[in-house]
Amino acid sequence: MILGIETSCDECSASVVKHEANSTVQVMSLATFSQIQIHQPYGGVVPEIASRNHLETINQMIDQALEDAHVHPHELEAIAVTNRPGLVGALLVGVSAAKALSYALDKPLIPVHHLEGHAASVYLEESPLKVREEIFLPMILAIISGGHTNLYCVTHLPEFWPKDFLKKSLIGRSRDDAAGEAFDKTAKILGFPYPGGVWIDRIAQTGNPKAFALPRALSQKTTLDFSFSGLKTAVALLTEKLKGQGILESELPHLCASVQEAIVDALISKIFLAVQEYRCQTLAVVGGVAANSRLRSRLNLEWKTAGLVHSPYFPKMAYCTDNAAMIAAAGAFRFRQGHFLKRDDFLTLNAIANPEV
Ligand code: KG4
Ligand code: ZN
Repeated sequence: MILGIETSCDECSASVVKHEANSTVQVMSLATFSQIQIHQPYGGVVPEIASRNHLETINQMIDQALEDAHVHPHELEAIAVTNRPGLVGALLVGVSAAKALSYALDKPLIPVHHLEGHAASVYLEESPLKVREEIFLPMILAIISGGHTNLYCVTHLPEFWPKDFLKKSLIGRSRDDAAGEAFDKTAKILGFPYPGGVWIDRIAQTGNPKAFALPRALSQKTTLDFSFSGLKTAVALLTEKLKGQGILESELPHLCASVQEAIVDALISKIFLAVQEYRCQTLAVVGGVAANSRLRSRLNLEWKTAGLVHSPYFPKMAYCTDNAAMIAAAGAFRFRQGHFLKRDDFLTLNAIANPEV
């Protein structure tokens, strides 16, 4: 059993998982405190407020996770913690808590890369891949969040991921804004609170996605990279124009639907290009943007139309957004490989804002 700790941004989370056979991980407990409401008045995450709040809640989350899992701290095999990348002050709270606990309990400490955690979320308990008791590889994995838009071609089961797995499997990424960032920044221009993705999704339900022509950057088939920074400029200009005409309010559903379509179009076209290029039959989509209803419905439909067998896989929402269960899972896989720090080594472990992966 592994305790996982995640504090890289605005979710303070702890979880106990049990590593089972066949690359699956059973979530015994997951306690998460989301700081979204605390940051909302500022229109985005304020790093200093995030770290202070993690400090106030981290012990509660750890206690809760242990209690819900009915596990005594001494029964833990090891402690896994996100130490990279993220807001450095926020990361430090989790890293310090993990170090203190590991030291006091004399348990090994497993530093985890946040994105490796997202990748591991595919193997968490509720996965239909588990129900089928098969993992169909190679798999295209799309991590689409507020901070990342990365495509990976996963060729190995997690127990066999090489140390530079993220670097080796990366096949496409955003060159500027992440998809979630594009949702949030355009939502801000349109006057919605942070985080805006869910608002655009909601208001777009009654809009026409073809109402406004918005740019789709890097649409050529020669790259699997994305670019979303031009979209917010186009939306800002269009918003000013509609405001001037006094019709912004009435056009809002159409504008939201068109913004969403531009982002979803870019995501889907590169995902399909990757599936073709790497001859994959399986797709997993993780990260906060995996909640987007248009992305889900279009992917499911177009996947079927393309004659691909195994439906796209979206983990349960609590495992898509930042959470400690995925960190504990990634930690469990690394622990099996012997990648962990012993008591004498881990005191020098640091939090890293932008590691080279
Ligand atoms: O993975 P996540 O919880 O946090 C990180 O960024 O790591 O992702 C948050 C992002 C935000 O940008 C948010 O606007 C976006 O996910 N998001 C959505 C939806 N729900 C959350 N974007 C579009 N449609 C949604 N329904
Ligand atoms: Zn994340």
